[in-house]
Amino acid sequence: MELDTTPPTAGPMNPAETSITASSRSRRGWWRDAVIYQVYVRSFADSDGDGDGDLTGIRQRLEHLASLGVDALWLTPFYVSPLADGGYDVANYRDVDPRFGTLEDFDALLARAHELGLRVIIDIVPNHTSSAHPWFVEALASAPGSPARDRYIFRPGRGANGELPPNDWDSIFGGPAWTRVRNPDGTPGEWYLHLFDVEQPDLNWKNPEVAEEFLSILRFWLDRGVDGFRIDVAHGMIKQDGLPDVGRPQAKLLGALELPYFDQDGVHEIYRSWRRLLDSYPGERIAVAEAWVNDPVRAARYLRPDELHQAFNFDYLTSDWDAEELRKVIDASLAANAAVDAPTTWVLSNHDVTRHVTRYGGGEIGQRRARAAALLTLALPGSAYIYQGEELGLPEVTDLPESVLQDPTWVRSGYTERGRDGCRVPIPWEGDAPPFGFSPPGSTTWLPIPESWRSITVASQEKDPSSMLHLYRRALAVRRQHPALGDGTLEWVDAPVDVLAFTREPGFTCVVNFRPEPVELSVRGEVLVASEPVQIMETGAGSRLVLPSDTACWLSTQPVQLP
Ligand code: GLC
Repeated sequence: MELDTTPPTAGPMNPAETSITASSRSRRGWWRDAVIYQVYVRSFADSDGDGDGDLTGIRQRLEHLASLGVDALWLTPFYVSPLADGGYDVANYRDVDPRFGTLEDFDALLARAHELGLRVIIDIVPNHTSSAHPWFVEALASAPGSPARDRYIFRPGRGANGELPPNDWDSIFGGPAWTRVRNPDGTPGEWYLHLFDVEQPDLNWKNPEVAEEFLSILRFWLDRGVDGFRIDVAHGMIKQDGLPDVGRPQAKLLGALELPYFDQDGVHEIYRSWRRLLDSYPGERIAVAEAWVNDPVRAARYLRPDELHQAFNFDYLTSDWDAEELRKVIDASLAANAAVDAPTTWVLSNHDVTRHVTRYGGGEIGQRRARAAALLTLALPGSAYIYQGEELGLPEVTDLPESVLQDPTWVRSGYTERGRDGCRVPIPWEGDAPPFGFSPPGSTTWLPIPESWRSITVASQEKDPSSMLHLYRRALAVRRQHPALGDGTLEWVDAPVDVLAFTREPGFTCVVNFRPEPVELSVRGEVLVASEPVQIMETGAGSRLVLPSDTACWLSTQPVQLP
């Protein structure tokens, strides 16, 4: 098996011309190549011992993120909430839930992050509120047809006595997407729409008051200094007129089906108004869409120049560990985004999906593949997201006791789907026993941390130069310094089956072996970082790289000043 990664036109380069620093990189907007670290607030660090992570805990651990080498963090919702869906059920968008701290704690966290050079993006949840939100409480107490009800999606039921839901839409968490309410006098009344949990009524975005309220909420946080927003269910806010039946059971977040409640054209109008607001603030404030749409071309519509800055690349996240499949997704994403001049994002895990170490096979093989995937991901053109704990190689916790499960999926699926708690287990920081420095000693964490995580705490990985943590640090440091990485383009190099290889200019090559056995390649350049030990052998016929199974390697074909 041979791979010649020599770029066709490359000759010997003049080191004086090619030695670089980060400042020489083209900067067309910080988000175009930012590495953004997702903090799941409830599970990052608990400063007060109540077992839930909090904003002060995050502030106290910010050095971990600064030393990791990321550019920004995204905080999942920390607003006042009954936590029926982990905080994606917001009762007050302008305050912090007491479990997570106070507005002053938020300001202190933001200030410290900025001091460390880290930008901060917060989550905004515009598709639905909590049923505890004053607007919904008012709607329930008001008559059908009232202005208070019109902020949500109330409809009379079908059937002789309105006893059937208004249409056949399913909740993403299982069961119907409609719940019937009682009138103030106790008689059965209208139904309200909730695409997610019963406690997450969908807002009516065709009501101008709703649109105004969210612009005002965005202003509230922009004025406090946030650098942007992650938009929850960004494809869901507008429902097709008439709320037509789908006609069959519906897919979960990502399915091949076109749905009358997702990805409707009207959402783009909302984002144009949001973009105008973001652009009216100094300092490049951004928005990233959580839009589970099927087709990269549809996803790119959210990124037209007058709309949002980024969208999560869920096609990449949902790909198997398979060279051909990944290459197709990479090509399709790059092409679709290039058409709207938007950067692509690359994401392997988040708080809604099984952690990728486990998706890729778990155990030793899952770890190897996750290491290789990290290098592949961070070498691709555009911006990358890291989900907290992936830099430690945390696996999904698949054996949480049923008594602790909190994801509404568990109940709404009739106790058949355990839901997403297994990827939300708190971070193990240090020590030999739970709570591993996540909470003060003796605290009970909201989800139990496996005893076995003692060997993968941050502190133990600090001591091990071959750990996942060191791999991420090294890769992020190289990515920051190398002029070929971040925004830009890539060029595929012919490679054997089950090997991906691409170059980026100037002078960078990434090779990934997806095979179960090593592959020997003829290469040019020096190893910058590899996910497993690799060796380059000089032979009479040039350099040979032996790339072990499930391994990725970055090579530099020009001299660069790297850390
Ligand atoms: C998004 C969030 C998820 C939440 C849902 C409803 O998909 O990422 O955690 O349950 O929206 O708000």
